[in-house]
Amino acid sequence: MSRLTGSRDRPQHVPVMLDEVINGLAVRPGGHYVDATVGLGGHAAAILEAAQPGGRLLGIDRDPNALERAAERLAPFGDAVVLVRGSYADVESICAEHDFAPVDGMLLDLGLSSLQLEQTGRGFSFQRDEPLDMRMDPDDELNAFELVNETEEEELAGIIWQYGEERRSRRIARAIVGQRPIRTTGELAGVIEQAVGRSRGRRNTIHPATLTFQALRIAVNQELMHLDAVLASAHGLLEATGGRLVVISFHSLEDRRVKEYIRDQSSARPRERWGAEPTETPHWERVTHRVLKASDAEVAQNPRARSARMRVAEANPLTEAA
Ligand SMILES: C[S@@+](CC[C@H](N)C(=O)[O-])C[C@H]1O[C@@H](n2cnc3c(N)ncnc32)[C@H](O)[C@@H]1O
Repeated sequence: MSRLTGSRDRPQHVPVMLDEVINGLAVRPGGHYVDATVGLGGHAAAILEAAQPGGRLLGIDRDPNALERAAERLAPFGDAVVLVRGSYADVESICAEHDFAPVDGMLLDLGLSSLQLEQTGRGFSFQRDEPLDMRMDPDDELNAFELVNETEEEELAGIIWQYGEERRSRRIARAIVGQRPIRTTGELAGVIEQAVGRSRGRRNTIHPATLTFQALRIAVNQELMHLDAVLASAHGLLEATGGRLVVISFHSLEDRRVKEYIRDQSSARPRERWGAEPTETPHWERVTHRVLKASDAEVAQNPRARSARMRVAEANPLTEAA
């Protein structure tokens, strides 16, 4: 039985940096919190406990299987919990619809849950041979099979380069196109390994398909677009209470985006790209000036925590610039 697996057929997800999340959100009794990536409800349960008496939580996830598990786990909190299937990109309208604003804190624990990685049939991992899918929301139109088998070579190389930061993207795209149709994660991993081999040096610690799988998953789920959208709407939800935003990322593409957003928006003259108007007060106050990582003790217990990177910011109430 794996460390992350509570029973052989029911994967568990160990929430990362749990104490840091509760401190980062500054959870207080009676507070209202959004867990925008509720997953299996591990962080949510801890937030709800710390927010009693009177605290409430709205949990969002794109994955209906995750929501089912979150509902079971959070059932003891009764109507203090609202669970919504949807994307955090729509957090503003979801909160409005459920009359759940303003909010005292919002958590984004990005990436995949152990349920998604370990449950067969989702095609997120090359550790098992599964149909190529990779959709977090099974109702989304695009899946990895279509992306891999129908995208032109140059565009595929661009996706692998941009979202995987894989320097051998052209060689990999050429090999994929030459071997199509590719139906399973195992076939795809084999094609990639054949094309680039197992390199020596630092990179030999990860499988040669790792970065390509990351790139395809990000493209299938349009992850960076959704991340930009939630970052752009977080301030509006947290402004009235001076609430906290806590973001945990698991790869450098996401963390860089979060870092740039917080750095940019904690300046009084934000760049145009986040769609914010100049204000006398910066949108955010940085709570963490350097990225927080999991302790050695946590990493020893839960290897997934090794790549976790956490950033925290507090929303400032705004005054318009003259
Ligand atoms: C790392 S897991 C969260 C685990 C959770 N913190 C826990 O303690 O169980 C990330 C979750 O975010 C969800 N997710 C990814 N992109 C999303 C999006 N755009 N909107 C909502 N949920 C999303 C995934 O389906 C997954 O369940």
